[in-house]
Amino acid sequence: MNLNLLNEELVRENMLSEIIYFDETDSTNNYSKKSNLGNNTLVLTSSQPGGTGRFGRPWYSSPGKNLTFSLIKFFNLQIDEIHLVNFYSSYILCMTLKEFIKKNKDCEVTLKWPNDILLNRKKLAGFLLDVKDLKNDSKKFIIGAGININQENFPDDIKSKATSLLLEIKTEIRKEELLIAFIKNFYGKLYLIENKNELMRQWNNNSKIEGKKINFKKSDDDKERAATVIGIDNDGGLNVKFDDGKKSRFYSGEISIVYDLN
Ligand code: BTN
Repeated sequence: MNLNLLNEELVRENMLSEIIYFDETDSTNNYSKKSNLGNNTLVLTSSQPGGTGRFGRPWYSSPGKNLTFSLIKFFNLQIDEIHLVNFYSSYILCMTLKEFIKKNKDCEVTLKWPNDILLNRKKLAGFLLDVKDLKNDSKKFIIGAGININQENFPDDIKSKATSLLLEIKTEIRKEELLIAFIKNFYGKLYLIENKNELMRQWNNNSKIEGKKINFKKSDDDKERAATVIGIDNDGGLNVKFDDGKKSRFYSGEISIVYDLN
């Protein structure tokens, strides 16, 4: 990891205050939760044996190949606005990736509710957010991101669903460049957090989930149920119509999109 470059580009006024780098740490989110880190700290590691994903699943990342980091950022948000940071982070990463691969016309980056980034319909990146100081106006967000960059092989159980930039665009990417672009975009568009209608409009434009057939489950041990997406509300709620005709709104859970074979 070229820390000199990251420090030169990112540690300055109105962006990162500090970069804490580990060759290896259990999980950047766990480290951030245990430590008393200040606003705008970035915790970055090249190897993360205890990486965690949503629903407490492991997050596999081959050492040295990918980006795994946590950004500490305080936001003045009410409890019912916390989801905006999720949607903001995934939207910013989606836009950053689009800029990066714009020459690859056959590659498509999309957002999948609630905060996955897909490349050519396979999972490229995900976010895991932890929030502290819930009672305070200013809440501390630990924004954990895992982005598959140069990984070539995935464990059997996720092989068919996961991908990396290298596998799709067939070119090695300098991880530092993507990280720099993401952080700059993140700090450059913060006004969107205060303009939730616009944020959610842009998020939806990059998700194109409305009207799609999906399978939905509330948790890992839940049974999948077939449904059609009605839309995503500005409060982050996913509105679906199940195949039995019942309509519901969810604020957490997981979907898999059913693609037409043709
Ligand atoms: C998901 O399940 O999609 C979320 C994956 C989040 C993984 C990242 S990697 C850096 C940070 N530290 C962790 O232990 N998890 C997040």
